[in-house]
Amino acid sequence: MQLKRIYVDNFRNLCREEIQLNPGINIVLGKNAQGKTNFLEAVYILAAANSPRTNIEQEMVAWKNDYYFVKGEVESQDDSFSISVGYTQGKKRIRVNESPLERVKDLLGRFIVIFFGPEDLQLIKGSPQLRRQFLDREISLIYPLYYENLQRYRTVLGQRNNLLKEIGEKGTGESQLEPWDEQLADSGGELVSRRIRFLKELREKINSKYTEISGENLEFKVEYEASLALDKNSSSQDWKRAFIDALKRRRKEELIRGVTIIGPHRDDISFQLGDRELKNYGSQGQQRTAVLALKIGELEFMAQVRGEQPVLLLDDVFSELDGTRQKALLDLIGGNIQSIITTTDNNFQEINKPCHYFTVDKGKINRWEGRI
Ligand SMILES: Nc1ncnc2c1ncn2[C@@H]1O[C@H](COP(=O)(O)OP(=O)(O)OP(=O)(O)O)[C@@H](O)[C@H]1O
Ligand SMILES: [Mg+2]
Repeated sequence: MQLKRIYVDNFRNLCREEIQLNPGINIVLGKNAQGKTNFLEAVYILAAANSPRTNIEQEMVAWKNDYYFVKGEVESQDDSFSISVGYTQGKKRIRVNESPLERVKDLLGRFIVIFFGPEDLQLIKGSPQLRRQFLDREISLIYPLYYENLQRYRTVLGQRNNLLKEIGEKGTGESQLEPWDEQLADSGGELVSRRIRFLKELREKINSKYTEISGENLEFKVEYEASLALDKNSSSQDWKRAFIDALKRRRKEELIRGVTIIGPHRDDISFQLGDRELKNYGSQGQQRTAVLALKIGELEFMAQVRGEQPVLLLDDVFSELDGTRQKALLDLIGGNIQSIITTTDNNFQEINKPCHYFTVDKGKINRWEGRI
């Protein structure tokens, strides 16, 4: 899969830029605060119609303006199509081949990207919410139904929480919760079982990726930590039943607290390196490498599911890695993957693969023919 051309208009500090990309490696060079991450964000928008950095659309609109617009031409194995995402007057407009799509879900799964940015380093050490966000984002990119389910789950969760508060205060009406429990467990069960399957697939890949990038011979493992106690191999129906039972058991506590205390919105992921918790014992470099291994593992998994390679977006990752790890990463990327890699410095002296260079300066992107 390949992004051939992209046009951005009023997107953050990118005013009006149209560029043609290389099918292989694309390197975007620029000093701090010139627009490198903004550019990758624009590419990501074409895949997800949402940003990996913010949930607030207005943030992406160039200052003093009232819209943004991004359009890309994508070539996949058996199709060529255009995607555009625009935002104006509080409304997002998504089009594929100029035909409007009604929902974000309709866009998902068409153009697939893997994005790795500095914020992803928080994945290991940061809050459980970041790890859930990671799962939700990545799974949604390839499984639009997951995204739909997630939206439904969030709506039901909000309504159920309101009801819990109301019943808790009044002290009567517990039976009203039953249909909500059923609906919550319905989408919740699907979410949990899809997340577990996704991590199981990744688990098989990330260990070897970790070793390839780091050269260390430590086992890298990932585990889903469910708030419901159930065997990981259970079906979504089993998860649903266990969810309903648990909601019944914990109802008293929920009524007192006025919130839903179990379910996928409370789950987490744990990462182990050599049988130790990575977040407590891993060095900075090990944590970085682990997240990178996770993303490259994901790339492989998505390629497997889709039968073609996604596009890889690496934001400032090289400056964080030592020379050996940089080289190993480039070796892993090489071949038939399109990648867009941003960097602030001249860390690319060692690159010995055909690639295109671009420079970004105050929001202006230019093709650069020079060599470092
Ligand atoms: N909505 C917006 N309108 C105009 N400019 C914006 C908007 N949002 C962010 N910016 C500006 O865009 C500039 C470039 O941001 P970006 O994150 O792309 O930098 P970068 O090149 O990735 O830098 P770094 O190397 O520090 O990560 C910043 O100065 C930022 O303040
Ligand atoms: Mg940046």
